[in-house]
Amino acid sequence: MFTTYKRISFKLNGQEVIWEVDVRKSLLEVLREKGLTGVKKGCGVGECGACTVLIDETPTDSCLYLAVWAEGKTIRTIEGIAKNGELTAVQQAFVEEGAIQCGFCTPGLVLTTTALAESGKDYTPDELKRELSGHICRCTGYQKIFSAAERSLGQEHHCACGHHHEE
Ligand code: FES
Ligand code: FES
Repeated sequence: MFTTYKRISFKLNGQEVIWEVDVRKSLLEVLREKGLTGVKKGCGVGECGACTVLIDETPTDSCLYLAVWAEGKTIRTIEGIAKNGELTAVQQAFVEEGAIQCGFCTPGLVLTTTALAESGKDYTPDELKRELSGHICRCTGYQKIFSAAERSLGQEHHCACGHHHEE
């Protein structure tokens, strides 16, 4: 069987790259083969969000996205989020809220939350939950993830007692 490769150029985590990619492969497969293993393969069919990357700033399931479609795009993966080894405010919020257990869902969640935070829009708690609903987490029960996302967007929850709990 013949394998067809195509040369594509795109921006990956701030750097212009030129890659020869197998036209049949997903972006998920190609990124992982290139060593970007922060992109996780969960379901492989667009249901779990583990493979999320930002394509032109939009969170996208890379398992459903052919690598050749990356031509001319700007792609960010979890490897490109921290700057000079410093965690971003979003990453810090996930750590501080204890929103990470096994960590399999975390890269995708951090990327989607980063896109929401960078959009500059306000989200109600329900809207935020809807935005994150494409991500499945088998460990945390989600509450800490939602708290981390709210904190990332500067929308921490103020409980009914009227005090702001910093934890
Ligand atoms: Fe892509 Fe699950 S691996 S959505
Ligand atoms: Fe394990 Fe979310 S922390 S799947």
